Amino acid sequence: MQVIFKIVRQTGSALPQVQSYELEVEAGNTILDCLNKIKWEQDGTLAFRKNCRNTICGSCTMRIDGRSALACKENVGSEIKQLYGTNNLANDVTPEITVAPMGNMPVIKDLVVDMSSFWNHYEAVKPYVSTGEKVPEREYLQTPQMRSLIEQNGNCIMCGACYSACNAREVNPEFVGPHALAKAYRMIADNRDTEAESRLEEYNKGIQGVWGCTRCFNCNTVCPMEVAPLDQITKIKQEILADKDAENSRQIRHRQVLVELVKQGGWIDERAFGLQVVGNYLRDVRGLLSIAPLGLRMLARGKFPLSFEPSEGTEEVKGLIEAVQALKD
Ligand code: SF4
Ligand code: SF4
Ligand code: FES
Repeated sequence: MQVIFKIVRQTGSALPQVQSYELEVEAGNTILDCLNKIKWEQDGTLAFRKNCRNTICGSCTMRIDGRSALACKENVGSEIKQLYGTNNLANDVTPEITVAPMGNMPVIKDLVVDMSSFWNHYEAVKPYVSTGEKVPEREYLQTPQMRSLIEQNGNCIMCGACYSACNAREVNPEFVGPHALAKAYRMIADNRDTEAESRLEEYNKGIQGVWGCTRCFNCNTVCPMEVAPLDQITKIKQEILADKDAENSRQIRHRQVLVELVKQGGWIDERAFGLQVVGNYLRDVRGLLSIAPLGLRMLARGKFPLSFEPSEGTEEVKGLIEAVQALKD
């Protein structure tokens, strides 16, 4: 069958341009097969990464019809089915498949991106088992149960699909990204690692760690290895929340105060929110001083809420929250 490949091409910071190539392909051909065909038969200047051709090395990630995916995993037939709802197209319709470079990383050339930030953020979570002084005489032993805790995240092939599709990463350059946090949980869950406590402290900080995630679910959707990074992020959050010593952290207070205020008033009393979260219930003088200028500016512009009206249906909201909380207990 004839298929038109529309490839978004770019060199460095120049404006991207779409170039079309028409090819005779089989439904079972992978997108990578088709790119090879273009490169070998039509245009040797087309740049893209590849290696294993077998969903192992993670080199060939790109955006195929808008989704971050491995070019050696997706094939022409399933792509056309997704785009057109059928594989039986009318004779006069030539299907079009669009291929673009990964997102959240600058383009070097065509479909090749600069993955430095991806690797730097990965390094930032200390992605290696740290055993401290605990060195056994012969080997580190793990039971099958212990091993099973790290199996899912161990499947990550560092392809970058999750990072490319991450909404938080798009707006927050500090956020380390789903791949790094999935690996972070792998380290926490590994019984041979002795740094779990300091790791949790680190991943709990600011918006670079787990609290930077907006829970958009994209990473779970695109991951070709079913690592489910969002699930791993949630497990780290649960570990942090289970740690009573961490209750003084602003991120945890943020979550707890938000739920309590919505329970009390159906929506958030912003005055109480600032005092309780940033000011730690008036105990954190530096926190209070940090929000004072904002409060004064709001007051001067008549935007400071002087009173608070509970929302209609507060009792219903409270009942719902309490029902969910009872389920968790
Ligand atoms: S769920 Fe979180 S980590 Fe995953 S893509 Fe969305 S914002 Fe990024
Ligand atoms: S978590 Fe999945 S999508 Fe992200 S880098 Fe690893 S294999 Fe790729
Ligand atoms: S070429 Fe190795 S994963 Fe696609």
